Amino acid sequence: MSGYFATSIVRLVPGSRCYSASAVIWSLLGCLLLFHLYSNIHHKHGEGREVQLRASNHPQFRELQQVEEEIIQLPPQKGKRSPRAAKRRHKRVTPLVDEFLDEDSRLRHVFFPGNNSAIDPVKVTGNDSYYYYPGRIWLDTDRNPIQAHGGGILYDERSNTYFWYGEYKDGLTYRAHKRGAARVDIIGVGCYSSKDLWTWKNEGIVLAAEEMNGTHDLYKSNVLERPKVIFNDKTRKYVMWMHIDDVNYTKAAVGIAISDTPDGPFEYLGSQRPHGYESRDMTVFKDEDGVAYLIYSSEENNVLHIGPMTEDYLNLMPVMRRVFVGQRREAPAVFKHQGTYYMITSGCTGWAPNEALAHAAESILGPWETLGNPCVGGNKMFRIATFLAQSTFVLPLPGFSGSFIFMADRWNPSDLRDSRYVWLPLIVEGPTHHSSEYISRLPLWSRVSIYWHRKWRLPQGWSTFK
Ligand code: DGJ
Repeated sequence: MSGYFATSIVRLVPGSRCYSASAVIWSLLGCLLLFHLYSNIHHKHGEGREVQLRASNHPQFRELQQVEEEIIQLPPQKGKRSPRAAKRRHKRVTPLVDEFLDEDSRLRHVFFPGNNSAIDPVKVTGNDSYYYYPGRIWLDTDRNPIQAHGGGILYDERSNTYFWYGEYKDGLTYRAHKRGAARVDIIGVGCYSSKDLWTWKNEGIVLAAEEMNGTHDLYKSNVLERPKVIFNDKTRKYVMWMHIDDVNYTKAAVGIAISDTPDGPFEYLGSQRPHGYESRDMTVFKDEDGVAYLIYSSEENNVLHIGPMTEDYLNLMPVMRRVFVGQRREAPAVFKHQGTYYMITSGCTGWAPNEALAHAAESILGPWETLGNPCVGGNKMFRIATFLAQSTFVLPLPGFSGSFIFMADRWNPSDLRDSRYVWLPLIVEGPTHHSSEYISRLPLWSRVSIYWHRKWRLPQGWSTFK
């Protein structure tokens, strides 16, 4: 930092006799003061003069940035395990993931706590309200487990309501082939609404499976994953993009559906291979200027592709960039903070958890730089397995600059409907430890941190800061 300021001063002074040393010092002090004020209070343009506080300025956010350890005592390795478990052990570096994938693990209740600890917003009142417990069963207002896996959230400004869309997986898990991935037939896209991001009302299945027509993309024995919805300000339509595939994941396409209302029903318009390429895990991102982008794993999951959509969000422009070439990243979740684009991705290991990475870019089309593993707290094994979960979405929290909710799925491959949600605070703040730019020149990127908490909640009154 000091090197940077020194260079700036040298650029101002040469050739200008009117600059006395004291004037330079005073300007420098002035700049520092302005910088300090700007970084503490950021005035949003547009909707009046709203004040955005930095997450670290709120005591409850500061609390969320405390490192919380998690000690998990692994049982001694059993002498004999199933051949499948032995094969997995060979392939995986972390014994915790091995234990997690063992259906007979004695720690099953730690990874997938039972009904008696379910989060039940209808029942819980007073001081115990609003707590997220990553990994616990989470009930909707009808007291059924929420079914919105691989999901994303839309904040609907027209109704001041959050809508959570995701895979409705409340069916039997089976394998279509001996070596195929565990699967649940398509039931449809589930939709839940909420004002407080904690109490969720089931709005029903907003895009349903096709039961009869075996040639339809949504035919039940195909695959529908990772649905995401954005609102088009020009057409006033809610547009859903999703991963569409066949049972063997060889179709590798994106599907598009639209609706006039956030709670559906959505009309399915069809699927395509974006830019003519394979597309598996995907997400969408709507930028502040209204341009939306599709981000998808392509080329056998070896490369991530990013391209802008047409104005109506129903198609893609003939523009595409290839990023993270050869790095095999999937489960992308994109967000933006103070002009910088960020992305969280996972590696490709089916339903098994692996290490998340955070990335940053000045333009969404790249170049993207990898910042490193954003997970903080828990324990080392937990961190290199993304708290036993996989990214799906990052939701900005209005009012608190740099604060987000990281949404991830803790998949349960033996019973996918019982997969859990891992929501944690994600904070963008301070210089990154990992960026090579930081080591060589400047702290160009901010640090992205996802803080582990067994139990946490948003600061009280957070929604009034909108
Ligand atoms: C990992 C992906 O992220 C999931 O969405 C799903 O496609 C599984 N692979 C299937 O194994």
